[in-house]
Amino acid sequence: MEKKGLSCYSLKGNLCYTPNKDEFCIIENGYVVCKDGRCAGVYETLPEKYKNFPCMDYGDRLILPGLVDLHVHAPQYAFRGIGMDLELIDWLNTHTFPEEQKYKELDYAKRAYRIFGEDFIQSATTRACIFGTIHTEATLWLMEFLEKAGMSAYVGKVNMDRNSPDNLCEAGWRQAAEDTEKWILQCKNLKQVKPILTPRFIPSCSDELMEALSKLQKRFHLPVQSHLSENLGEIQWVRELCPDTSCYGEAYDKYQMFGGECPTIMAHCVHSTEEEQKMMKEQGVFVAHCPESNTNLSSGIAPIRRYLENGICVGLGSDVAAGTSLSMFRVMAMAIQCSKLRWRLTDQRLAPLTVSEAFYLATKGGGAFFGKVGSFEQGYEFDALVINDEEIRSPRKLTVKERIERLLYLAEDRHIIAKYISGREIFSKEA
Ligand code: GUN
Ligand code: FE
Repeated sequence: MEKKGLSCYSLKGNLCYTPNKDEFCIIENGYVVCKDGRCAGVYETLPEKYKNFPCMDYGDRLILPGLVDLHVHAPQYAFRGIGMDLELIDWLNTHTFPEEQKYKELDYAKRAYRIFGEDFIQSATTRACIFGTIHTEATLWLMEFLEKAGMSAYVGKVNMDRNSPDNLCEAGWRQAAEDTEKWILQCKNLKQVKPILTPRFIPSCSDELMEALSKLQKRFHLPVQSHLSENLGEIQWVRELCPDTSCYGEAYDKYQMFGGECPTIMAHCVHSTEEEQKMMKEQGVFVAHCPESNTNLSSGIAPIRRYLENGICVGLGSDVAAGTSLSMFRVMAMAIQCSKLRWRLTDQRLAPLTVSEAFYLATKGGGAFFGKVGSFEQGYEFDALVINDEEIRSPRKLTVKERIERLLYLAEDRHIIAKYISGREIFSKEA
């Protein structure tokens, strides 16, 4: 069936989404209607007015909103699963920076980004916030590759002009700002894959560079992504580098790159102080919670339950390659598992995350950074996954809710049989 380019249709199957963090909305053998790339509603029986839309009948398959990865490093995919025996700063110096240097060579970058891109397209992720490297050409190539595949993402050319190895350090803040401006202008023709300003983290960005990026932010109205309060040694280092700030977050806020008028994602926030949390809440900063990364680099476990109670915006991130897997199903499972360990070992006041909360964080929670994304409620962008879970065998007759629950722990990319972003079919393997 010709589906590419169709903007009005319906999908039939077992629908599941979380309108809020405490509630799974499940419609068995229901219809979700796509109209001009947006969700027109979910129905048990199809309303008359949509009966002339083509309907893809997925039978007993599961249909859920696409998953959102708020934090992933594309160049680090090359060494996923390798070198996990160090903490953050040593890990960066030993494994990460030597790999990222290689993206100066466009041939290497193309080979590496093709592998990342192809796997990423097959994954459950429909929206992502991606770090590239400091290299403009390679970053643009990645953006164009993802755009051609129909993916929707923010991608950042990374900025770093201090405390970085010679061959992975921009040649002064002026050059860094000039290259970044040029890159922003080169992104003009891209529609679904957009630029996001990406100061790597405070230790690798001089005051002058932060000032210059702040000016670019205001001029082009770009969002910002970075790292925050990930590791205790890193936080101490920031204290020494910025003696005039009372918390790490203030070192971004000083340059108006910490929410407010500037949409901002901060990865990790494992050790954010109360003052920092207050700023994040008041200024609408998004936390990208990356539980696998925080485990692998022994960074700690972020108090996500507290952030939710306090009304901070939270989504999930794979943080490859500190996290090993692009699977946002795996990240949901780890978010729950880490919250249980934190509850048991360090703070019995903060109850573990539930399945619906993890699902919400990976869909509507992170999706909010992109606007109306991550739900099948009316008006939401039509991002959807169709899952065939037959292969996950059981002698029991499972309910749809049980089938959704086990996906967090058991789903593999091969179970995803179709993927849609803003109504566009990215791939379809059956039906
Ligand atoms: N902080 C600065 N750079 C990085 C990075 O590449 N990964 C992680 N996890 N933290 C960082
Ligand atoms: Fe990261």
